[in-house]
Amino acid sequence: MNGRYKVLLLGSGGREHSIAWKLNQSPDLEKLFCIPGNPGISELAECHQISLQNHSEITQFISKNEIQLVICGPEAPLADGLMNHLSESLGNTCILIGPKLSGARLESSKNFSKEFMFRHNIPTAAYKTFRKEQLSEAKEFILSMKTPIVLKADGLAAGKGVLICQSHNEAIEEIELMLDGKFGEASEQVVIEEFLSGIEFSSFILTDGKYYVELPDAKDYKRIGEKDTGLNTGGMGSISPVHFIDNILREKIRNRIINPTIEGLQKENIPYQGFIFFGLINVNGDPFVIEYNCRLGDPETESIMLRIKSDLLQAFIACGSGTLNDYSMSTHDHYAATVFLVSGGYPDNFEKGKEIFNYKDCPEDSYIFHAGTQIKDGKLVTSGGRVIALSSISKTKDQAIQKSLYMAKQIQYDGKYYRKDIGFDLE
Ligand code: AMP
Ligand code: GLY
Repeated sequence: MNGRYKVLLLGSGGREHSIAWKLNQSPDLEKLFCIPGNPGISELAECHQISLQNHSEITQFISKNEIQLVICGPEAPLADGLMNHLSESLGNTCILIGPKLSGARLESSKNFSKEFMFRHNIPTAAYKTFRKEQLSEAKEFILSMKTPIVLKADGLAAGKGVLICQSHNEAIEEIELMLDGKFGEASEQVVIEEFLSGIEFSSFILTDGKYYVELPDAKDYKRIGEKDTGLNTGGMGSISPVHFIDNILREKIRNRIINPTIEGLQKENIPYQGFIFFGLINVNGDPFVIEYNCRLGDPETESIMLRIKSDLLQAFIACGSGTLNDYSMSTHDHYAATVFLVSGGYPDNFEKGKEIFNYKDCPEDSYIFHAGTQIKDGKLVTSGGRVIALSSISKTKDQAIQKSLYMAKQIQYDGKYYRKDIGFDLE
């Protein structure tokens, strides 16, 4: 396919806003649509309020608007088979960026992903999986392990299905609750795994199932409190690049993790077109996989989009036309930093509908990506836990962080909270 492209982006977060921002720089973009989008995205794309669960309405929308390329931002539509539906109804008329159900299982089933890693010798924590009727075996296994012990609901549990238990007793109490439905269907099976100690980071590729390109690496900050304390959140900030990823570690990531993953997918006849997000941990210089995701990370994407120099739309087109091996992704050497503004009380209960002020001015090379915002009676108000991502790019990490923190201070709404120490551990 040549010429200019009509593109549909699915999702409504800061990740999708930053992808929309990047796609808008492509001379090959004819028109960008987004379902459902948000007030920030609506300045860059034509947004439509269609449910991401309504597969047939999305198909009709794509056909009616002659859309040639679809990018799925979040994981839920992928785990719900949206790409299978689109592929069956649209055939080859449209490039789909996001895997079908078989590939999305890398994220939607922890047990599947652990078995996949073991089948293909990909380094990951030792584990065993148990169902409800195996409670006594599960307890025995727990007692045989060193603490801390990691329990993971097999299915998608909105980022809450992983528990790190400090004692055997705690792990035994929790496994009973989980197998008893603590996370509904998601914890019908529970993976019990060894705790790995090291620094976590995220690596990303875009693949057509055969070739791949690497995107910039990033580190995200998941905990609500400074110095990584308190509850887990959807993500409070991110930094890219990650300075300790030198050429030696990069080669290990490629040879031990990325290449065997792609080869494993091929051997198992799992077609895969889209992103793979490797949640990694650096254990004394050796990378281990903590998890796979079948999409980009949020808030990593807000930082990495700033660092990609190449045309991202061209990468998607190459991915859909089997020419990804001819595409090379160049990146800016500079550092990017993202600081997330969240609602007071998040990730526990929080109020919505707070008017947001002072959000229009940005210093040069800084960007405001909307996540949980909404227009109500002509005003911009908060509509979620994570409200706005503030991303900046600069020569040094500290300058990038300072620029985002400056914006974080300027923007006002009732209950605003953000972490002031993003990047604290990357000295
Ligand atoms: P996951 O959803 O699998 O990424 O797990 C959520 C978080 O739990 C990860 O980001 C890690 O901080 C932590 N975690 C998961 N598995 C392990 C493990 N085996 N060892 C140490 N920490 C882990
Ligand atoms: N930043 C982690 C995630 O998107 O799952």
